[in-house]
Amino acid sequence: MTVSSAPGKVYLFGEHAVVYGEPAVPCAIERRARVTVEQRADDKLRVQADNLSLDGFTVEYGGRTDGHPDVDVPEHLITAAMGYVDEAIEQVRDVTEEPDAGFDVIIESDIPLGAGLGSSAAVVVAAIDAATRELGATLEVDELAERAFQTEYAVQDGQASRADTFCSATGGAVRVEGEDCRRIDAPDLPIVIGFDGGAGETGELVSGVRALREEYAFAADTVETIGNVVRRGEAALEDGNLEEVGRLMDFNHGLLSALGVSSRSLDTMVWAARDADALGAKLTGAGGGGCIVALDQTEASETALRFTPGCEDAFRAELAETGVKRLE
Ligand code: MEV
Repeated sequence: MTVSSAPGKVYLFGEHAVVYGEPAVPCAIERRARVTVEQRADDKLRVQADNLSLDGFTVEYGGRTDGHPDVDVPEHLITAAMGYVDEAIEQVRDVTEEPDAGFDVIIESDIPLGAGLGSSAAVVVAAIDAATRELGATLEVDELAERAFQTEYAVQDGQASRADTFCSATGGAVRVEGEDCRRIDAPDLPIVIGFDGGAGETGELVSGVRALREEYAFAADTVETIGNVVRRGEAALEDGNLEEVGRLMDFNHGLLSALGVSSRSLDTMVWAARDADALGAKLTGAGGGGCIVALDQTEASETALRFTPGCEDAFRAELAETGVKRLE
């Protein structure tokens, strides 16, 4: 039996635009998916996800023994999660040259599904790492990140960047621009997350931005402008200038809204944090619903979010310095 965990992430800057070659800066957070893998005697795959939780928001279901998990999360999220695990195991079979390897897989995660915190990337990274080790191979972190990216790329019909998977594999704050992925230094970031209890459909949201970009030159300009905001954001991070980082996060949120990927509840949470004098606030991830990320050194944003209708949970998140962890 082998066990690996990998962290979720928030985007400080650059989601969506990164799909078109602009830079992005995601940052790993201490919310993890833990995957336990045991090789089977046959070539089958059995996946059990006992507990996918966030404080005050827990869903439970008991595996796929009859093909119909007992779930209280939307079916499409479960189907999506299982699609990621299936494809991750295909990558493992390929890299280890063991096409007939079968596994029992248990997923435990405290990252809500599809909510912009990188749940699928964390599950994929941890699953590939644990299953390859179960077969006696250990991947370098770069190769692990690449295999995890190939998994997302396949499941999302080619609409994926390397940002989520690289960040989850390596940990820390990272910069991704096309194939160029690296860790960057970031100051201590007072990250606050608000969660509306919902989720967005990444594939649909990415396709929506693609369509807008093709229809309107100004939408293509908006994507490019996000790239410019990211470059300024990187400089502000390097200087440790959190006020400027926050201002640019606000700007980034406005541009994402213009591209149609925000929602009423995301906007409401962003404004709750701004009204509480957060340094800045924006949606994180694909959007449509899920989470916002705010920067606030005081307790004010977290408190304001807790009292905001439509905000299901609010919490502070620490930067995860370590990406994948090999636990057993
Ligand atoms: C989703 O977490 C982030 C997107 O930029 C898609 C991607 O980068 O693969 C929307």
